[in-house]
Amino acid sequence: MKLPPLVLLSAIFFSGIFAMECKKGIHYCGRSLLKNDEIDQLFVSLNKAGVKNATEHIVLESIFECLPTRDGQVSFEHHRSALGIGETAPRVSWRFQGKVSDWEQSSYELEVKRAGQEAENFHIDSAESVLVSWPSTALESGEEAIVRVRSFGPDSKHNTPWSDAVAVEPGLLTPDDWQDAAVIASARPTEVNETHRPIQFRKDFSLEQSYVSARLYITALGLYEAHLNGKRIGDHVLAPGWQSYHNRHEYNTYDVTDMLKQGPNALGVTVGEGWYSGRLGFNEGRRNIYGDTLGLLSLLVITKSDGSKLYIPSDDTWQSNIGPIVTSEIYDGERYDSRLEQKGWLQPGFNSSGWLGVHEISFPKGRLAAPDAPPVRRVEEHKLKDVFQSASGKTVLDFGQNLVGWLRIRVKGPKGQTIKFLHTEVMEDGEVATRPLRYAKATDHFTLSGEGVEQWEPSFTFHGFRYVQVDGWPEDTTPLDENSITAVVVHSDMERTGYFECSDPLVSKLHQNILWSMRGNFLSIPTDCPQRDERLGWTGDIHAFSKTANFIYDTAGFLRGWLKDARSEQLNNSYAPPYVIPNVLGPSTPTSIWGDSIVAVPWELYEAFGDKVMLKEQYPGAQDWIDKGISRNEVGLWNRSTFQYADWLDPKAPPDDPGDATTNKYLVSDAYLLHSTDLLANISAALSMDEAPSKYSDWHSDLTKEFQKAWISPNGTMANETQTGLALPLYFDLFPTSQQANSAANRLAQLVQANDYKVGTGFAGTHLLGHTLSKYDKDDAFYQMLMQTETPSWLYQVVMNGTTTWERWDSMLPNGSVNSGEMTSFNHYAVGSVASWIHSVAGGLRPAEPGWKRIHIEVVPGGGLTHASTRFETPYGVTSTKWQLGSPGDSCDGSDFHLMVEVPPNTRATVVLPGPGGETYDIGSGSYEYHVACLE
Ligand SMILES: *[C@@H]1O[C@H](CO)[C@@H](O)[C@H](O)[C@H]1NC(C)=O
Ligand SMILES: *[C@@H]1O[C@H](CO)[C@@H](O)[C@H](O)[C@H]1NC(C)=O
Ligand SMILES: *[C@@H]1O[C@H](CO)[C@@H](O)[C@H](O)[C@H]1NC(C)=O
Ligand SMILES: *[C@@H]1O[C@H](CO)[C@@H](O)[C@H](O)[C@H]1NC(C)=O
Ligand SMILES: *[C@@H]1O[C@H](CO)[C@@H](O)[C@H](O)[C@H]1NC(C)=O
Ligand SMILES: *[C@@H]1O[C@H](CO)[C@@H](O)[C@H](O)[C@H]1NC(C)=O
Repeated sequence: MKLPPLVLLSAIFFSGIFAMECKKGIHYCGRSLLKNDEIDQLFVSLNKAGVKNATEHIVLESIFECLPTRDGQVSFEHHRSALGIGETAPRVSWRFQGKVSDWEQSSYELEVKRAGQEAENFHIDSAESVLVSWPSTALESGEEAIVRVRSFGPDSKHNTPWSDAVAVEPGLLTPDDWQDAAVIASARPTEVNETHRPIQFRKDFSLEQSYVSARLYITALGLYEAHLNGKRIGDHVLAPGWQSYHNRHEYNTYDVTDMLKQGPNALGVTVGEGWYSGRLGFNEGRRNIYGDTLGLLSLLVITKSDGSKLYIPSDDTWQSNIGPIVTSEIYDGERYDSRLEQKGWLQPGFNSSGWLGVHEISFPKGRLAAPDAPPVRRVEEHKLKDVFQSASGKTVLDFGQNLVGWLRIRVKGPKGQTIKFLHTEVMEDGEVATRPLRYAKATDHFTLSGEGVEQWEPSFTFHGFRYVQVDGWPEDTTPLDENSITAVVVHSDMERTGYFECSDPLVSKLHQNILWSMRGNFLSIPTDCPQRDERLGWTGDIHAFSKTANFIYDTAGFLRGWLKDARSEQLNNSYAPPYVIPNVLGPSTPTSIWGDSIVAVPWELYEAFGDKVMLKEQYPGAQDWIDKGISRNEVGLWNRSTFQYADWLDPKAPPDDPGDATTNKYLVSDAYLLHSTDLLANISAALSMDEAPSKYSDWHSDLTKEFQKAWISPNGTMANETQTGLALPLYFDLFPTSQQANSAANRLAQLVQANDYKVGTGFAGTHLLGHTLSKYDKDDAFYQMLMQTETPSWLYQVVMNGTTTWERWDSMLPNGSVNSGEMTSFNHYAVGSVASWIHSVAGGLRPAEPGWKRIHIEVVPGGGLTHASTRFETPYGVTSTKWQLGSPGDSCDGSDFHLMVEVPPNTRATVVLPGPGGETYDIGSGSYEYHVACLE
């Protein structure tokens, strides 16, 4: 007999939890899906069904709610999909679903099945369910294993069933594994000092025998789109993404078993310049940063039925040609001429007599690496919202959302007509505002072949836009509406993990805008902005935003890959991480905050994912920065002649000089230097590095004294009594006495109040301001800042109809005109760092120890919010809070506080209730409900 799990689940809560209600004197119970008499009935029916011990039966059945899953699966390292990974002994994780109460794993069984071998089973007594060691022998290049797991409960009785069996398979791990595959380039002269025309490569081959599986390993000097027998291979776009190609060049692995056929086959690959040899950087930028010739490297490996392998490598037997993509550039957009399409070039047997040959070019295969990040994909389609005429009569599309990606069109019209699409984020004076794009043209051109309905989207560019000006649309044959045109949203396809929503629609919208700016700027690398002649991996921006990012999406693989590039670029830049990674701006001087990202981002990753192996991989970068990278003065603080961004974009800085902040640059830089030294001591301690923890903590105490001498007066005032000037030493614990710190916190709150609760911080202070005020129990002051709608504030952008977060607090001025500053992006994520405060204070969720095995739940209501819901997929499963102030029949005038909490299996949480009592509970997994009567 099997009852619906939800019903059983509720029964368990009731059986265990009433006792606590009496003991704690507080309403503490499970989600009330069943009434008491329904539970009684349930027991009666179980007894009737012949179940001897109903209570036990219910507990056992309920474990069906406790399946190990992660996207319904077991996972490996930080990969979303484990085909073509770089690890031979990948660590294994599994997540739990369901709301089973007080459940902790006592042991697990991991089964590994490899081709032609008996399954191996490993039973391990351990509570670990995240990143456990690979128990078997190492895998080889291209060797598949099928893994499943089951967990045993506290008394080895309440066990989970087996998880789904999930495949894991390394890619090609050594240069030799690539067999005879060579990088090939077209036998045509490559363009000099101008954009490179995309190249089509093709290869016919015949497969005589039957086969069991096929894998394509592929990358490009540029970006590729590959096809087998006319079908697109995989769903990656802009592959292989952007890395510091000089050091690390990713390839991708695809299972093409089902696309292959016996008999004739054809591979066809188009390669565009992308980041590899396209124009990058401000103004005219630079071309050919990594190389001046487009190339393709691929190896098709076919495993035949007899176990032998057939290799189809990229080599000099391939052919090449130019095609309908005339140009395709990251900043400037794509020109596509359908009249130049060669029908059938992707099919076997195509007559390629007019095609050019290819030549092999040398390439160090040691740079090839399997990806850590999930691929960039088309993640969502966004419907056209409105079509209108601009002031000058141009046709403009409005998608209602500033997004990143491109258009997909379906159009019928006369041969040779060219349609032009100009993408912008905002309108100004009734026209699409192109000035903020600077030197990026952000324009696609599509020329019709005139043959029926043509469907098109660009291949090797992307745009940041809400509005599109369309010229040359054939209105007579195709209405310009949501059937003919749609926006495709594109970004690194990370798993969404964090959600927040509350009673204030503006704050909820702010959270949505933060999400959209993250989506727009997590496209292969963490960028500053996605639209103008920049789109670079600014280290200062991700420093500010990583805590928020790590909550909203599972960023672990994405940032792990990027930090590998940060490390190699740092080593090429005298131990100082460059301002942007990958570095396309040339040598960078050592600079605080931006450089400190090599300490802070790994630390935030560790807090979020608890992965010590990854932290250890990132440790040398952090250590080199502190030991050798920073340019110091005679006492060990920052060299006073270094260039610093410091509190960049302080709202009081003039529009044309964003670095001219109200807080001294070296005060800010020194504060971060102290913080980074402290974090390095923490990292060393977490990794149990022999002498390092005390070395860095001693250094930290010595330098703290120097900081105090330099910036804090004997009576405890800061050299610059600004929001940033106070927040940094408060958050980083740099005051000599707690009395001085408390007094500084009071002055910070007064300063905030005197500033009408408007923001007074730039890049250095903004992401820490809320956390600082909360640290000193001044949550109310920060709630008032959060609720402020006049600029500079977070909600100003929302009331100005922003759908993303902006680079400047006032990228758009109150009169609707665009800020005159030269940098005016409407899609920057840094100010969205406020969401980490929202999640942990309004949402009450944060890890109590790195990786969320212990959760700290402490909601601080405020800001006039009457309810909020926050949800986070921890590495163990879902934790959430849902609270409400006031309820029908509330005895105390709308101030009854109700909180519902979910704690995932195999974790514990500390719950701290609001109110003067601040009651604290230590709880295991399950759902709980709390009530505080008459909260002040
Ligand atoms: C029934 O099961 C519960 C929970 O496992 C146990 O505490 C109790 O002793 C059992 N009762 C009998 C009669 O076996
Ligand atoms: C390419 O640009 C460089 C730098 O501006 C210049 O020196 C060179 O002559 C140009 N080459 C051609 C073929 O235009
Ligand atoms: C291929 O095309 C060329 C040039 O158009 C032509 O001369 C040749 O006969 C064609 N070959 C076949 C097999 O059709
Ligand atoms: C900050 O404090 C220093 C030292 O008192 C002072 O010289 C400076 O003018 C203040 N403001 C800035 C922006 O540095
Ligand atoms: C504290 O010291 C600073 C610098 O010496 C001085 O400007 C300030 O007036 C003093 N404040 C108080 C309250 O004594
Ligand atoms: C925001 O949008 C609303 C609704 O379309 C409009 O009425 C309002 O004028 C807009 N505000 C600004 C500042 O553009």
